[in-house]
Amino acid sequence: MIKNAAVLDVQWGDCGKGRIAHWLSPNFDWCVRQNGSSNSGHVVYRDDKKYTHHLLPSADYRCKYLKSFLSSGMVINLEELLEEILLFEQDFPGIAKSIYVDPDAFVITPEHIQEDREKNKHIQSTGKGVQPAYTDKVARKGTRIYHYIRDNAEIIKKLKELGVNFTPVLQIKSVLEKSSILFEGAQSVLLDINAGPDYPYVTSSDCTVSGIYSSGFNFVKLDKVYGCMKPYLTKVGAGYMPTEIDDDYADMLRKRGNEFGNTTGRPRRIGVLDLAATKYAIQKGGIDSLIITKMDIMDGLGSIKVCHSYGKDVFSPSDFVDLRPEYNNISGWTDSKNIKELKPFISYIETLTSTRVELISTGVTDSDLHKLA
Ligand code: IMP
Ligand code: MG
Repeated sequence: MIKNAAVLDVQWGDCGKGRIAHWLSPNFDWCVRQNGSSNSGHVVYRDDKKYTHHLLPSADYRCKYLKSFLSSGMVINLEELLEEILLFEQDFPGIAKSIYVDPDAFVITPEHIQEDREKNKHIQSTGKGVQPAYTDKVARKGTRIYHYIRDNAEIIKKLKELGVNFTPVLQIKSVLEKSSILFEGAQSVLLDINAGPDYPYVTSSDCTVSGIYSSGFNFVKLDKVYGCMKPYLTKVGAGYMPTEIDDDYADMLRKRGNEFGNTTGRPRRIGVLDLAATKYAIQKGGIDSLIITKMDIMDGLGSIKVCHSYGKDVFSPSDFVDLRPEYNNISGWTDSKNIKELKPFISYIETLTSTRVELISTGVTDSDLHKLA
């Protein structure tokens, strides 16, 4: 039985973690966001309506028992948090009362946002103030939410009036220990501050399982860590992408997959599925099962090109130099809804990564999510 689980991303983000977390969340008591900030954009559909979560976990708000927790590993722009909660309050009145925020999280200030926009153009950051906020935190000059609470700041009053709870994780440890928790990562293992192979073209937070523990959930035993991926690659922002393609095929995938950033609207760069990088991310991320989303985007495309190796082993970010991607063509499928057709592709991924594919998605509705036997 799965009591506690995590959903992370083993590519460059935007593989549908939010949607998967949303679907899984009714099986849990809590949904926790452990890292990052509003640089993420997790899209979910509730009764055919589209919602984008930037700071709030992608919990299914239709479940009254489900609680959300924003952990101390995040950096939080409190004005944006208020805006996002107010937006969700319109459709889910009272939802604010189910939201818990760890007051040990650090805040993003307007100065952080300005600095990010001025200094991180070369990395093509999301401009949300993430790097300057994390930099201030580790430089020991950041400000925790706690300080705003102590000073009775106006923004805290507004959030509290709505019903938002400011609670350090250990204060509710005994409750959490009896509950089941779903952790929803942000960004991805390949963008992680430590594991990201293309430093400095990474984000500034802990995107692997470490982020769960460093935000105070050391008492939790994870029964399952899912890694989300797509059958092709996308990336937003600068930095290398060894299997990038920029041709008509890439344009077609971008269009079919609607590969435009949810936070910034930027067209995403497209690449051939890179299993060498995925294998590295599975190990660095602490992943034990895979989820492949957007299988339907590759319906009817014939055989599918994948990179199986770089011609050398990669154990650390320093090994990501002088790469010579080697490719294979794997049988494709005409209709992903016919799961049998996907077998050669899925078996290939499982064999190469030594990791089971447990779930696939073949469309945007919940009925398009299929558990594999
Ligand atoms: P930052 O996280 O805004 O500092 O941006 C650093 C890099 O991570 C940039 O290349 C961003 O495009 C990328 N990035 C940040 N958040 C996401 C995300 O949620 N999905 C995909 N890429 C992201
Ligand atoms: Mg995204």
